[in-house]
Amino acid sequence: MDNVVEAIRRRVWVPLSAPKDLLEDLGVAPVSGLLLHGPPGCGKSLLARRLTEILTPRPPTFVSGPEILDRFVGSSEANVRSLFDFPPPLPAGVPGAEEALHVIVLDEFDAIAGRRSAGGGGDGSERVRDSVVNQLLARMDGVQQLATPTLLVGLTNRKDLIDPALLRPGRFEVHIEVAPPDCRGRAEILRIHCHQMWSADRMEIPKWSEGGFTSFLTELAERTEGFSGAELAGVVRAAAAYALERAAMTGYKDAGSIKVTLQDFERGLNDVAPAASTAYRQDTDGPRQPARDMDTARNTVPSQ
Ligand SMILES: Nc1ncnc2c1ncn2[C@@H]1O[C@H](COP(=O)(O)OP(=O)(O)O)[C@@H](O)[C@H]1O
Ligand SMILES: [Mg+2]
Repeated sequence: MDNVVEAIRRRVWVPLSAPKDLLEDLGVAPVSGLLLHGPPGCGKSLLARRLTEILTPRPPTFVSGPEILDRFVGSSEANVRSLFDFPPPLPAGVPGAEEALHVIVLDEFDAIAGRRSAGGGGDGSERVRDSVVNQLLARMDGVQQLATPTLLVGLTNRKDLIDPALLRPGRFEVHIEVAPPDCRGRAEILRIHCHQMWSADRMEIPKWSEGGFTSFLTELAERTEGFSGAELAGVVRAAAAYALERAAMTGYKDAGSIKVTLQDFERGLNDVAPAASTAYRQDTDGPRQPARDMDTARNTVPSQ
């Protein structure tokens, strides 16, 4: 994830925040389109949201591809235009109205930006999509002239389905892959999703200490190769559900002392199978190894 953030910073954030006359001297304009691609659940939507918060005080426009198609049937041209021409206003009291960047995030971008049909026939929905793509192309080419500076961010699990015309320089020029997390990344993601229960003292980890927590995260990260961020969050939710179930069984009488145990995580781990990458792992490593017992985690917790 660090290299993704670094690439976005250099290609998108730095040029957007550079002084206008410096950009003019260099003869370059900031990019107007960014494509984030990669398997589902690896943080594209999350990243797009964070990015808009960093880039601009203006509220972003979030639309998903299928939603655009639904909304735009019959009036697609006007609607694509309104997406660009009527950016949400700045919150009251924030200065810099006109110049504040407008970010349009197009989620499930492949649904609208698929390759156009070869022309001629095509059913109704294909024609709508073709006209949306043509509109998008026209608007992207005119984006530098808009009254409000605009950045388009397309998100997709299927870059291969996107019309190559949209991916050319000047349009969705910067392509950044958001790949499944590596071991260190998984530990960080698990830390984020366990943070609340850990800081509320609701995790039962042997030898209660920051070291114990970190060892637990590392162990879990090592055992979740191929899991996406969404699946890791799912493991934490599944573990918490086992603890909640125990609390519910006693009518919440002992709710005050309920903790999420290693065994809860063990069961949560077995409930969540990494969907996106199972096939990939079977190709490369043979069948999935049975999860190692969580006792190993217990054994690696440093004693104090
Ligand atoms: N890098 C990450 N850090 C923390 N949580 C993550 C991360 N990646 C994914 N998640 C979790 O997975 C959920 C789904 O991620 P999302 O951004 O919607 O994935 P995508 O858009 O790539 O399909 C997020 O809401 C979050 O809970
Ligand atoms: Mg998403």
